[in-house]
Amino acid sequence: MGTHPRRRFRWEDASIEELSAAAREELAAFWVRRAVGEWQVGRILAELRDLLASVGAPPAVRALTLGAPAEEGRHGAWCLRLARLYAGRPLARPVVPAAVLPGFWGAEARLRAVYGVTVVSCIHETIATAWLLRCFQRCTAPLPRGILRAMLQDETGHARIGWAYLASPGVTPEDRMALRRRLPKLLGDNVAAWRPRPFVHGPPDGQGVLCPAEHVDVVRTAVAEIVLPGFAEIGIVSARETARLSAVLTEVG
Ligand SMILES: [Fe+2]
Ligand SMILES: [Fe+2]
Repeated sequence: MGTHPRRRFRWEDASIEELSAAAREELAAFWVRRAVGEWQVGRILAELRDLLASVGAPPAVRALTLGAPAEEGRHGAWCLRLARLYAGRPLARPVVPAAVLPGFWGAEARLRAVYGVTVVSCIHETIATAWLLRCFQRCTAPLPRGILRAMLQDETGHARIGWAYLASPGVTPEDRMALRRRLPKLLGDNVAAWRPRPFVHGPPDGQGVLCPAEHVDVVRTAVAEIVLPGFAEIGIVSARETARLSAVLTEVG
């Protein structure tokens, strides 16, 4: 959230040279997809920043949103540069498909902000934080390890936006009731979006890319042990509902 010194990476990594050509191609494609995802999330976070401002979200919450779009922009640039290193050749900047905050059943702006922070921040960025931590822990290659660490620091801040807003007085008891009703659907759709793509050549050990089984495990664990308890902690769902909602996780993988 702008509190970290400017990151400088050494854009070389001998461990990449040791990989097979096929593995390098597949990792390059993986990081290009990651770049596209980062840029898409950046656009959505910019929309969310403006929406939170328009509904008069508390200044402390709005402050958390200010640096987020640019941080995602930088993440995308790092991902693409890393992809080029894996590919060992220039790669064109990919086309980034449009990404907008959903309409959420025609909800008015105030409620759209509530659903928006829930999906983007409390669910997506919180899962991303847990996922990046596991990728970082599995990564021994210095360059991707440094990039994963830097992204992890930023995503933690992006996850805070939603929890801070939902716990704030800006969200009314009626908003909370509406969110409680919609939460199973919001959670189901967004957890399903974390379905992993299979790797034909690995993924190779030590490059910070999880195999599909571990990817599914980290997403399930994040939802069961961080996201759902988070909603219980701020009074959106009861402990009993939390257990029932865990069933949503079977949608993954
Ligand atoms: Fe990011
Ligand atoms: Fe993020």
